[in-house]
Amino acid sequence: MAQSNDIILTGIRPTGSLHIGHMVGALIPNIEIQNAGGYKKMYAMIADAQGLTDNFDNPERVRENVMEVALDMLATGYNPEKTTIFIQSEISELTELTFYYMNLVTIARLQRNPTVKTEIAQKEKFNGGVPVGFFTYPISQAADITAFGANIVPVGDDQLPMLEQAAEIVHKFNSIYGDTLIMPRAVVPKTKSAARLPGIDGNAKMSKSLNNGIYLKDSADEIAAKVKSMYTDPNHIRVEDPGNTTENPVFIYLSVFARPEHFAAFLPEYKDYNELAAHYERGGLGDVKVKKFLNAVMQETLRPIRERREELARDPASVMEILRRGTMDARAAAADTLARVKRAMKLNYFD
Ligand code: TRP
Repeated sequence: MAQSNDIILTGIRPTGSLHIGHMVGALIPNIEIQNAGGYKKMYAMIADAQGLTDNFDNPERVRENVMEVALDMLATGYNPEKTTIFIQSEISELTELTFYYMNLVTIARLQRNPTVKTEIAQKEKFNGGVPVGFFTYPISQAADITAFGANIVPVGDDQLPMLEQAAEIVHKFNSIYGDTLIMPRAVVPKTKSAARLPGIDGNAKMSKSLNNGIYLKDSADEIAAKVKSMYTDPNHIRVEDPGNTTENPVFIYLSVFARPEHFAAFLPEYKDYNELAAHYERGGLGDVKVKKFLNAVMQETLRPIRERREELARDPASVMEILRRGTMDARAAAADTLARVKRAMKLNYFD
């Protein structure tokens, strides 16, 4: 439960439109925090400048996906009355803070950052060398967090090293220049709905490059075709065979999305997920039947989001207006922090 002085900041890179993995891992947990209330302020940043650190050669991709991600967020339930949604690159205070924080971080420390390490290893385009901008993005992320005074940062566990790095910067800044910055704390959502979803091909990660995701903007036909093609238990060949549900993406999706109402409406022979999974594990339940049910569940879950998304997409100017207002609000907070940072660093000549 949020406290009345909590400032919460979430961030997302606009490098692709969002899939059901983002929805359960980030969007829904963040919307739950938003709607529970009790905090002082909630920000949701669209991190286009960070998105450029590994897409600097493809600015169209980032530009287009700012709108796509905004549509996904608003359609899923981000409420601009409750959450200040804004565009990172429009707040130049963030780059200025980044420059000052760079003095507080060593090259060796960045090289040890596990998230940076993994990302560099995964990106073929960095084979010829890692751009300084990408290498230092943890410092810019510390600027994102501290600029708004966020003490709570909801993230996936891959982001914990970023929060550790930010906490070190805050500690070092405050000990050298005096107490100025708020110490942030990572909060990893632990609800079942925040489970990491595998791809439809069974790969542990759902991603654009693997082309194994179900997207919030997918049409009903696209969803049906994807569910039909899903990987299941490869040893479950005949209906009578006992099946595995734990490494089976069809069952993993059902465990996250299927509610008792879905069973009542589409598969009344079973009361809930546990009954269905037990039958599959025993043997005697075929994949076609389970996939038909999963399709019905996914259609029910995604239809309202897609419809809201289509409606919002008909009026992109209104979406941009939401982002513009959020950005103006966020900029004021960042300007205040930057002024305090510069004063602490004795860079306030004309005060
Ligand atoms: N690095 C985050 C991601 O890839 C996005 C992000 C940028 C972020 N700035 C942030 C997250 C500040 C939390 C706080 O998902």
